[in-house]
Amino acid sequence: LNAAAVVPAAGRGERLGPGAPKALRDLGGVPILVHAVRVLARSRAVGRVVVVAPADGVAEVRALLADALGERENAVLVVVPGGATRQESVRAGLAALPDDVDVVLVHDAARPLVPVDVVDAVARTVAEGAEAVVPAVPLADTVKQVGAPAVPGAPEPVLSTPDRSTLRAVQTPQGFRRDVLDRVHTKAVAEGVDATDDAGLVERFGGRVVVVPGHEEAFKVTRPLDLVLAEAVLARRRS
Ligand code: C5P
Repeated sequence: LNAAAVVPAAGRGERLGPGAPKALRDLGGVPILVHAVRVLARSRAVGRVVVVAPADGVAEVRALLADALGERENAVLVVVPGGATRQESVRAGLAALPDDVDVVLVHDAARPLVPVDVVDAVARTVAEGAEAVVPAVPLADTVKQVGAPAVPGAPEPVLSTPDRSTLRAVQTPQGFRRDVLDRVHTKAVAEGVDATDDAGLVERFGGRVVVVPGHEEAFKVTRPLDLVLAEAVLARRRS
């Protein structure tokens, strides 16, 4: 099987505070995105990486990634401009894939510390026949569904508490048969559907998604505290 990775990295990252686009923020001396691309490049399963950059940052991102593939000289790295939403950015990445790619891993640039074993396990599970695969971890917190407050500003009422043992927090890379991912993204555009992850589109259009174990270090850098945690994880790895 011929697998490629699409890395949406075009988000502003406003929840992280003011500054550069999230993927270009520093983590241990290197932009977050560079960490993410290096992990993908370390996976023997991945022959091509398409990075989806902010539309005004394509040249800058190309320069940053010039040596991110390390020793994988046979792997190909392409940078294309992204869109207004994550889903649009993924679509731009898919459009840049050659015809002979039959497995696609979609990996958030904002998950720079995912272990390469998780990347390999996702790719392998697609190679073994799954049409869509997500890495996921159990939840530490109990989750409540809430409703609208009676009047604006009042406390939100709790509606229900799903059984935590049946819930998983989903990470990336998410892996797909290429034909399946192309089809659901095309349908999403036609029907105006927006999802927060790609597997969500597969579910929405009747496909089958399976879970493999994720990893606590594959967390998404979203808020300032996540960056503190990421720095600590990196420091531990380097010690
Ligand atoms: O905003 P969120 O943390 O969910 O973004 C997840 C990933 O999607 C990030 O890597 C971000 O750069 C990317 N993204 C994108 N294009 C957008 C919005 C988000 O590539 N318009």
